[in-house]
Amino acid sequence: MCGIVGYVGERAVTPLLLEALEKLEYRGYDSAGIALVSDGGIEIQKTRGRIADLRRIVESAGDSGCTVGIGHTRWATHGEPSDVNSHPHLSKSGRVAVVHNGIIENYIELRAFLSAHGYEFSTETDSEVVSELIDYCYSGDPVAAVRKAELQLRGSYALGIIFADFPEQIIALRKDSPLIIGIGENENFIASDIPAILKYTRDVFRLDERELAVLSKKRVAVFNELGERVEHVIEHIEWDAGAAEKGGYPHFMIKEIMEQPEAISKTVAPRIDANGDILLGFKSLSDEDLKNIDSIKLTACGSAYHVGVVAKHLLKKWLDIPVEAELASEFRYDDPILNERTLVIVISQSGETLDTLYALREAKNKGARTVSIVNVVASSIANESEEVLYTWAGPEISVATTKAYSTQLVLVELLGIRMAQLRGKLSDCEVKELVSAIKCIPSGIETILSDVQTMQYVASLYFNSQSVFFLGRNIDFALSLEASLKLKEISYIHSEAYAAGELKHGTISLIEDGTLVIALCTYRPLLDKMISNIKEVKARGAKVIAIINEDDIQTGTVADHIIRIPECGEISAPSLTIVPLQLFAYYIASLKGCDIDKPRNLAKSVTVE
Ligand code: M6R
Repeated sequence: MCGIVGYVGERAVTPLLLEALEKLEYRGYDSAGIALVSDGGIEIQKTRGRIADLRRIVESAGDSGCTVGIGHTRWATHGEPSDVNSHPHLSKSGRVAVVHNGIIENYIELRAFLSAHGYEFSTETDSEVVSELIDYCYSGDPVAAVRKAELQLRGSYALGIIFADFPEQIIALRKDSPLIIGIGENENFIASDIPAILKYTRDVFRLDERELAVLSKKRVAVFNELGERVEHVIEHIEWDAGAAEKGGYPHFMIKEIMEQPEAISKTVAPRIDANGDILLGFKSLSDEDLKNIDSIKLTACGSAYHVGVVAKHLLKKWLDIPVEAELASEFRYDDPILNERTLVIVISQSGETLDTLYALREAKNKGARTVSIVNVVASSIANESEEVLYTWAGPEISVATTKAYSTQLVLVELLGIRMAQLRGKLSDCEVKELVSAIKCIPSGIETILSDVQTMQYVASLYFNSQSVFFLGRNIDFALSLEASLKLKEISYIHSEAYAAGELKHGTISLIEDGTLVIALCTYRPLLDKMISNIKEVKARGAKVIAIINEDDIQTGTVADHIIRIPECGEISAPSLTIVPLQLFAYYIASLKGCDIDKPRNLAKSVTVE
């Protein structure tokens, strides 16, 4: 999704903005631009394409000498990626320039209103109404103009705003879209995410909902929606900028795949005490509350939703209560039945996915208890949920999630096991066994990662496939969903995940000579049935890669290739099985020469509905 940066200080602003925007490239974008302000007014440079294209334009224009400006990477929603639709948007009067992340839902209405007052529009975007509306509301006081304009805005927005009349300040405002403020010495920053400004400052805070910040080089003043001054606790970022660099790997995705053993250890270790008991550290949800929960809903988007689908099977078995996984984008529109005995578990790497945030708010409005599983500390979802369990996976830059997925999975497992123990559904001894199996996951993944050549080889046989089918039953089906998403999002190969028993109800007509089928066969209770399903597709000409348990001696006799998953306890299988499939997707995309970390049309943090 769109990325915003802004700087006010003493440095040359143009190279700083370009560099900061490069650090937000992972979010996904199709055009970029900057607006600089000085006594001479506001100057805009923007273009469709990459930041390298913008850099060429900016460099050919020569040094601006400016030290205040805003920048933007746009992920097109309203209007095609084009020079004119790119941000920043400058009001026709030349007085106000705006960068926007989010969607102005009532922009058609606002356009009509402003047009009736003589304003003209040159783009197809929803964002252009913001610069014109602020201009319309402006009569000398920038903060008053922004607040007056905001009263008319419906939708989500993080905004960076500059005024030609006030060349030494930036105004920032947010609702439902993230925005952080960075504090420096004689300089201050705004950004959509920390890596953009980490080179310059480690002292940051997140703007809260509907807060407005006025940044000058010497100070940052923040006001809540009532206009009251608010103070924020400044967070000092400990992680190194290197954590957001590739560290010798060709792509962030492979680096993050390789980081999974360590990331999982960091998620799990602090939550297990010396006796092997699980510590969740909840402040609001007491043990008694957890005992009283009589149903669970897991809600999330994309891969985080797939974690929910795996967890649904496990939690239902351990807790013996109804557990459902629901797409966050559907959740609040489906009139969910929730009450104070429902636990809604919200899962999100970024903590900013708008659908997931809205699902969380729906759950809270209906009185449900809420726990979020989040990677980005102090993100909106983390802040708004009743309890938060952080995955502590470190920054995940690749659009295709890997280590966040894996850490979310172990964390939701720990939550489920603890609840089952409290409710007397798992004995202390069973809990200890499950916990020690979870602790073995990092070494199991290390074993898989010590032999990436096998997946590289298999990928080299199939990277020209037109279509791939992933089959599985029960948890293996849940994992198929994730494996299929991973492949299609980065390699652009059409792929589908099917519950293996469902294939013959229609989809098997797509299987023909040479079609690649990846059969996940780690769920022991249904192995015989999976073997029958493999035979069915083989009989129609499919080539089959089977992912099997280490001790499986049957499946290898029917599949074309087998990938063995090391044995370390039933609960570990989902965490291990996904790893070769992440590698498969990665190597296929690499052989196809795809832009692996920034797949076309995708964004890392999806901050629009
Ligand atoms: O930040 P979130 O975990 O809320 O993001 C949810 C999805 O957008 C995300 O998992 C997406 O599906 C990934 N690109 C998958 O690799």
